[in-house]
Amino acid sequence: MKNIPSDFQEYLAIYKQSVEQPELFWETIANDFVWRKKWDKVLTWNFSEPSVKWFEGAKFNITENCLDRHLIDKADQAAIIWEPNNPNDAHKTYTYQSLYTQVCLFANVLKNRGVVKGDRVCIYMPMVPELVIAVLACARIGAIHSVIFGGFSAQSIADRIQDAGAKIVVTADGGYRGTKDIPLKFVIDDALVQCPSIEKVIVLNRTNTPVSMIKDRDFWWHEEMEMAEEMGLTTCDPELMDAEDMLFILYTSGSTGKPKGVVHTCGGYMVYTAYTFNNVMQYKPGEKFFCTADIGWITGHSYIIYGPLANGAISMMFEGVPNFPDPGRMWDIVDKHEIDILYTAPTAIRSLMAAGNQWLDGKDLSSLKKLGSVGEPINEEAWNWYNEKIGKGKCPIVDTWWQTETGGMMMSPIAGVTPVKPGYAMFPLPGVQVLLVDEKGEEIHGNGVKGNLCIKFPWPGMLRTTYGDHERCRQTYFSTYPNLYFTGDGCLRDEDGYYRITGRVDDVLNVSGHRIGTAEVENAINMHTGVVESAIVGYPHEIKGQGIYAYVICHSTHFDEDLMRQDILQTVSRIIGAVAKPDKVQFVSGLPKTRSGKIMRRILRKIAEGDNTNLGDTSTLLDPSIVDEIVKGKY
Ligand code: WT7
Repeated sequence: MKNIPSDFQEYLAIYKQSVEQPELFWETIANDFVWRKKWDKVLTWNFSEPSVKWFEGAKFNITENCLDRHLIDKADQAAIIWEPNNPNDAHKTYTYQSLYTQVCLFANVLKNRGVVKGDRVCIYMPMVPELVIAVLACARIGAIHSVIFGGFSAQSIADRIQDAGAKIVVTADGGYRGTKDIPLKFVIDDALVQCPSIEKVIVLNRTNTPVSMIKDRDFWWHEEMEMAEEMGLTTCDPELMDAEDMLFILYTSGSTGKPKGVVHTCGGYMVYTAYTFNNVMQYKPGEKFFCTADIGWITGHSYIIYGPLANGAISMMFEGVPNFPDPGRMWDIVDKHEIDILYTAPTAIRSLMAAGNQWLDGKDLSSLKKLGSVGEPINEEAWNWYNEKIGKGKCPIVDTWWQTETGGMMMSPIAGVTPVKPGYAMFPLPGVQVLLVDEKGEEIHGNGVKGNLCIKFPWPGMLRTTYGDHERCRQTYFSTYPNLYFTGDGCLRDEDGYYRITGRVDDVLNVSGHRIGTAEVENAINMHTGVVESAIVGYPHEIKGQGIYAYVICHSTHFDEDLMRQDILQTVSRIIGAVAKPDKVQFVSGLPKTRSGKIMRRILRKIAEGDNTNLGDTSTLLDPSIVDEIVKGKY
């Protein structure tokens, strides 16, 4: 691939060119992909609508780039290696040839069941290779996939299916996560009561969990695949897509109550994920890349599936959790498969570090060459442990900052090429033009400064809209600061000009690398009949990064607090999913509000952090005495 620097000076030169001639820079990279017809124009854009179009007029299919083109020289090389939840079960390897055939078969299954270009397909599956197959099969026929993380509740699924107007669901009877069996089909059946748009459901048999199959609506994956095979449907002509046609929707939380469907398009997303993967990881042919993320989140989309496969890489995927059956599991996988590059999240690193170094006894880890971190700020202690105990001091660590909306990595060291500093995302990647702004939107120049992180020029992997509501996209990302994309993150540029993300500046929490909107959790809690009002804030949590702290006002003053707490957690699980359950629930008789009725979250945050000494000015509060009460009753 072009424009991949191999030393720092080269990075500086490439970066400079990417800013001075962005169109030329990206066109040079895009030229190395398989296009049926090249673009008429590299880029048209304005951030006020916003409207961003990359490679307009180009015709192609992303799966030809992820599969077909590798059949020439990599047909028998592994594309996906899958390690199941239970280490006693055999792993599975899909070569580019076998993955290609499975994708074509399933693409034909979808077609047989009435899916056509532009239809939305909801995928709610465990971390099994069939999930990758389902995703790529959608892309093959031009259907738009909307993958929903297996930890979301029926209600959350129903909201997402309705918002996308999905026609078909691909799911499984169940899924394994550590010691748990997740009853996926059961949850889907609950969701579908509210989803008239769904015509068919395809169910993979993963756990042999008894499920109810509805006649003419539900079909078994294996039966459908057998049928397609008997009909000889092992190839499937790729649908010709325009570069700006939608590839997928992925729902993510924001500062308002309702999750947004972030939309990515085919051409720009492919070029961006493939380039950033190759560049940041300095990927060399034959290396085994292990991203521990779940495909239900953007990291899995971009760096288990599209980025690696577009590079003809070997992508390792894992069904379980890092501490099952014991906290040595990840290291066993690294050793068993001789993984070259490991890409994981700070929360996993912290939990494995906390489990104790005895879990590293007897693990070799000498195959590792490069390490990555993603999803949340990494603290120095975890960074050092990762560096010393896992990388043995010889593996560069890339702390990659990016978002669901950015499609791919935006700021990160480049492995072994650019300098690193623990906890720093360091520099913008080529093609990424970042700036820091103050509250008024004025750019903050110089070093040793903090501000809100914005981006001033389009990059190919950026979101194009929020599904069904373009105005919301404009409002959320492009209206706070005119003509800039606002990330929602605060950022430091230190004395050396190195960047460090300081965390969200909006009402979004990052819990174990999962993005959770405070308003969403509040809405869920407020649905409980016993609750009058609630306020959610984040607080520092040793393993999760941030924990969820709930202040709750109940109707009655006489109730069993423990029971009520359990009830509230149940409600949040029902409405959103277990990922959003508060870690702490404190019952209060009131909330600190200004005279205009605004909750002073700043004060609640301080109390949750355990910092009562410096609560700031409380004189503007409607009832300042409530603060003392909350401090005294701290959970
Ligand atoms: C938010 C995006 C990137 C894919 C996974 C999360 C935080 C992400 C880092 C990092 C500090 C980070 C930001 C960002 N974040 N990576 N390396 N250092 N913070 O995607 O769910 O869209 O969340 O995660 O706050 O805005 P997401």
